[in-house]
Amino acid sequence: MSRVIAIDGPSGAGKSSVSRIVGEKLGFLHVDSGALYRIMTWQCLANGVDTANPAAVAAFAAEVQIECRAEEGHIAYYVKGEAPGNRIRTPEINAHASPVATVKEVRDRITAILRGLVSFGDLVVEGRDITTAVFPDSPARFYLTASAEARARRRQKEEVEKGIANQSAEAVKASLLARDAIDSTRKYAPLKKADGALEIDSSDLTLDQVVETVLAALPADWIRR
Ligand code: DC
Repeated sequence: MSRVIAIDGPSGAGKSSVSRIVGEKLGFLHVDSGALYRIMTWQCLANGVDTANPAAVAAFAAEVQIECRAEEGHIAYYVKGEAPGNRIRTPEINAHASPVATVKEVRDRITAILRGLVSFGDLVVEGRDITTAVFPDSPARFYLTASAEARARRRQKEEVEKGIANQSAEAVKASLLARDAIDSTRKYAPLKKADGALEIDSSDLTLDQVVETVLAALPADWIRR
């Protein structure tokens, strides 16, 4: 039986960095579930599907084939043999991903893909509904959060460093808050802290401190010595 560490939280709370490092330390594969919602969004936009039309998105999502491969410590995704790369990290995808993620058929499809990944081995899965809906029975569940200012600062730095966009911190914050609002009020699997998940506020913590907090809360026999 594969072990799953589940980490949820809003954009920019540090989920990706924390999940990647925890995965490396333990030998668990890192799974970025948001990338699957971004891929669906990218494919909708590339094929002229109106992301504001849930029925059109639902019908189209059933056709998109996403291949998952275990590569260098993480699960990589391919569509028709192509890796999406930074094409799924643009401000345009940011703006359209939350409405796409409200569509039940999209969520059901991605939930099934995520659950199937246990066949690759132990996982650290990050997202918005991993602790509440995808792997609610995991004994290792975390809700990672941070102030809106801290989250916007991190995301803006990342966008500039990766050459994805050059938006002001205010614009990044507005986009984050708009997505948070949709993600946490949607009907299906909204973002919320699960009962029994450990909440970690990373606003004033270093990455190492957050990683240590996660590792310290895991079942003792999950830690490599
Ligand atoms: O984490 P991210 O910014 O890459 O997520 C992209 C979008 O997908 C975001 O609007 C929230 C949504 N999402 C979701 O609804 N459920 C998940 N498990 C992961 C992401």
